[in-house]
Formats: sequence, structure tokens, C-alpha cells
Amino acid sequence: MVKVLITGAAGQVGSELVKLAPAGFDAVGYNSSELDITNAQQVQRIVAEQVPALIINAAAYTAVDKAESDADRAYVVNEIGVKNLAQAALALGIPVFHISTDYVFDGTATAPYKETDPVGPTGVYGASKLAGEQVIISSGVKHIILRTSWVFGAEGNNFVTTMIRIGKERDTLGVVADQHGCPTSAASIANVLWQLAKKFIEAGELPWGVYHFSNSPATTWYGFACEIFKQAVAARLLEKAPVVNPIKTSDHPTPAKRPAWSVMDGSILVNLLGCAVPGWQQELSAVLHQLK
Ligand SMILES: NC(=O)c1ccc[n+]([C@@H]2O[C@H](COP(=O)([O-])OP(=O)(O)OC[C@H]3O[C@@H](n4cnc5c(N)ncnc54)[C@H](OP(=O)(O)O)[C@@H]3O)[C@@H](O)[C@H]2O)c1
Repeated sequence: MVKVLITGAAGQVGSELVKLAPAGFDAVGYNSSELDITNAQQVQRIVAEQVPALIINAAAYTAVDKAESDADRAYVVNEIGVKNLAQAALALGIPVFHISTDYVFDGTATAPYKETDPVGPTGVYGASKLAGEQVIISSGVKHIILRTSWVFGAEGNNFVTTMIRIGKERDTLGVVADQHGCPTSAASIANVLWQLAKKFIEAGELPWGVYHFSNSPATTWYGFACEIFKQAVAARLLEKAPVVNPIKTSDHPTPAKRPAWSVMDGSILVNLLGCAVPGWQQELSAVLHQLK
């Protein structure tokens, strides 16, 4: 069995990684109370004890708005925590797979972001995630940094679970229609990371670096909400769909600025793996069936 150590195992992506481990892989998942990535000694000890073939970091400070007033904590987790993992992996000579975000970009583009496009986060969360990317790269550890966007799943607080809750409580709601992005299921992120892990174990190497990955096609939060309610009614999760009104970002102020454009070009990774890009509507259908 190939042992893979997974941090943040209770999170959206972490829990899918543990659930979807392929045959031949032993996914050893640690939640935040079992392995705190900000604790360098604990990270070193557990990695040295487990001797995994690979670390997948699904742990992160993900509270985008709270980060604006809690910057120290966001950086401790998203930069120092990631540095601790990189150093432990380096000591063992193993790679780190890490998840990053569309928030490293400023969101002013009008074409899908490529891996080589200039970064420019506009808030604390994005800046702390970018610092995490940089700390991995400069550590010299072999790494895959997978930037993704608009993550949803059956577990945890995300746009889908929020819409279903609101749909049960209200007849009408406004949803932002001027932010563009690609919803991405936590399961599809886990699957693509496992495909990369398999490729690494088979070949002993990978073309290391930064990759973009999301489901397709691009939509807006408004478009996503409409599809969630349509599918939720068809799946009998909701009796009827609320009326969804398109609103502007300026009508829904938040402490952290949201990128108007989050769409990323994932073609390099898809070509590397020779797989199809999963459609988010189909992924949504699977999540709604789990929620039932
Ligand atoms: N959610 C999105 O829309 C989105 C979009 C783009 C990229 N991403 C990235 O995708 C990755 C996975 O995100 P997610 O949506 O699965 O997030 P999530 O559900 O919030 O999971 C993150 C997990 O990290 C854990 N964690 C926090 N601090 C930790 C620490 N010091 N040590 C160990 N674990 C710690 C959390 O545990 P506690 O709850 O116990 O603190 C939580 O279980 C993250 O890198 C995130 O930046 C997410």
C-alpha cells in the first residue's frame, strides 16, 4: 500500500480525499485537532512516524471575510503551516500536493487565467494563500500546487448547502450576477489529486509546478443558484424553487473584495492527465443526491 498523509481531513476537500482514495493507496487523514499544521514539531514528528510517500495538504484558513480582520491567523495557517509541511516533506525527500485558489489573481481579467498570468491578490485570504504557494516553491520541495475555485460538496458550509438552506426558508432571494467563475466539486478536486498521485507513484516523477483545475463551464453565482434550485426541486430536496433575482456585487457588500473574474484555464492539467473536465452540473447532481 502507498501511504499518503492528508491534512485538513475534516474539510470539504480533505474528507473527499480520504473517501476517494484509490485501490493500493492508504489515505491517512488528520483533522486539525490531530495535526495542527502550524505546529512545526508536531508536523515533523507525525511525518517522520508515518513515513508517507506523499503529503496532500487540504488544510487551510478559508474564512475569506474573517481573514480581513484576522490576518495574523490567516498567514500562520496559510503560509507558516504550509512551510512546516514543505520542510517535513523535504527532510523525507517526498513531494507535497497543495491546494490554492483563484483569489491569488486580482479578478480583472476577461479571459481564463493561465498558470503564467501575473498574480495580484486583493485581500488578506488571497495574499496569505499566495504566500503559501511561494513558500512551497522557494523551499525546493517537489510540489504540485493546484489552484481551484468555488468549491462545493455535500459536507460543510458552501454555496450549495447555503442555497438549499435558504431555499427552505425563503420565497425570494438576490444573488450576485456580475462575478464569473467555475464551480468545482470537492470530489472532482480529490479525484484529480489522486490521478496525479497515481501518476507519480507509477513514474516516480511528475512535471512539478502550479496547475489550474476547475469544473466547467463558467457561470455566475446567479447562474449557479438557479441551477441548484432547478436540480433540488427535480431531486425533491425542495418543494419549490424560490424566486432568484440577479443583483450586483455593489448591492451585496462584504469585508473582503470578491474577484469579478475567477475563471481559470485548466487545459494544461487536463492534457497532462488525458482526462475530461468534469461538468459542474453533473457534479452538483451527485452532491444533491448525497444531501438527500
Ligand atoms: N472553499 C472554496 O471555495 C475554495 C476555493 C478555492 C480554493 N480553495 C482551497 O481549497 C483547499 C480546501 O478548502 P476546503 O473548501 O476544503 O476548506 P475547508 O472545508 O474550510 O477545510 C479546511 C480544513 O483545514 C482545517 N484547518 C484549519 N486550520 C488548520 C490547521 N492549523 N491545521 C490543520 N488543519 C487546519 C480546518 O479545520 P477546522 O475547521 O477544525 O479549523 C478544515 O477542516 C484550501 O486550500 C482552500 O484555500 C477553497
